[in-house]
Amino acid sequence: MNLADLNKVALAMVTPGKGILAADESSGTIKKRFDAIKVESTEESRRDYREMLFRSSEAMSKYVSGVILYDETIWQNAKDGTPLVKLIEQSGAIPGIKVDEGTQALPQCPGELVTVGLDKLAERLKKYYERGARFAKWRAVIDIGSGIPTMTAISVNAHALARYAALCQAAQIVPIVEPEVLMDGDHDIDRCYDVTQRVLNKTFQELRIQRVELEGMVLKPNMAISGKKCAKRASVDEVAEKTVRLLKACVPAAVPGIAFLSGGQSDEEATAHLDAMNRIGGLPWKLTFSYGRALQAAPQKAWSGKAENIAAGQRAFTHRAQMNALASKGEWETGLEKKVA
Ligand code: 13P
Repeated sequence: MNLADLNKVALAMVTPGKGILAADESSGTIKKRFDAIKVESTEESRRDYREMLFRSSEAMSKYVSGVILYDETIWQNAKDGTPLVKLIEQSGAIPGIKVDEGTQALPQCPGELVTVGLDKLAERLKKYYERGARFAKWRAVIDIGSGIPTMTAISVNAHALARYAALCQAAQIVPIVEPEVLMDGDHDIDRCYDVTQRVLNKTFQELRIQRVELEGMVLKPNMAISGKKCAKRASVDEVAEKTVRLLKACVPAAVPGIAFLSGGQSDEEATAHLDAMNRIGGLPWKLTFSYGRALQAAPQKAWSGKAENIAAGQRAFTHRAQMNALASKGEWETGLEKKVA
């Protein structure tokens, strides 16, 4: 492993003024997104949609540091035969790859999941590196509910995240370590804070035990945030203040950067929260975005599967990417949202 090179890539992924486009929806998830805009999900429609994003030259060159791809996409070519990975490289962004293989029910823990995909991961990473991937992603899912999460779920998921991260670094690939605490329930922000703290502490304990080099990774956490069905949702300032406090308590300064998931927040909420955190300032790591839904909901709607809407889809994507890029520097203002075409 060359740690200096891993560190260089990790720092590039969290460059202030840029962030990561999470375009790694599995075939099942992208079908759900396409169903919502009444587009049939085929190999070709998925390719066309993602080609539209990767050819958004302003967004890609100015605001996007890296793109997380799904296995199908990393091997796909654009309509003109150019590999999609090349389009990303040509824009100056770094290609990355989701390498987990989804979740399975965790025995003895009703309602809880463990992320799988470690078998043959070393071989797969080698092929992805040859194709151009310089970073990877593995997502663990922790749900909050009555009696959950159990320490069992937290522990096995942290163990798998660290196994994955160590294998990535051995393959000269920067691991994005993503332990996601879901915001689906009716819990309040303090319960989310508490669970996320346990999850992050266990994750960093496992990373240390398995000798993962913190300088060569990026953390992708949820924010400390109220559950979607919580009667009393915390304000933007409270989310920012509590998330920063939580991360300072759990994330060593050796980690170069933290790139948040959006997790079901509205587009503007996700931007406002990131901006408010960066306005607090004085942080030991860079804070940016690695959004899926909060970057893509608008372009998906504008595109709606029609070739004549490609320019509109690209405008919508560029706008959201620019808003989040400003937020990564604490320079976003709500008034800028009104200027959307
Ligand atoms: P969301 O921003 O839609 O949560 O997706 C980010 C991601 O990559 C989840 O794994």
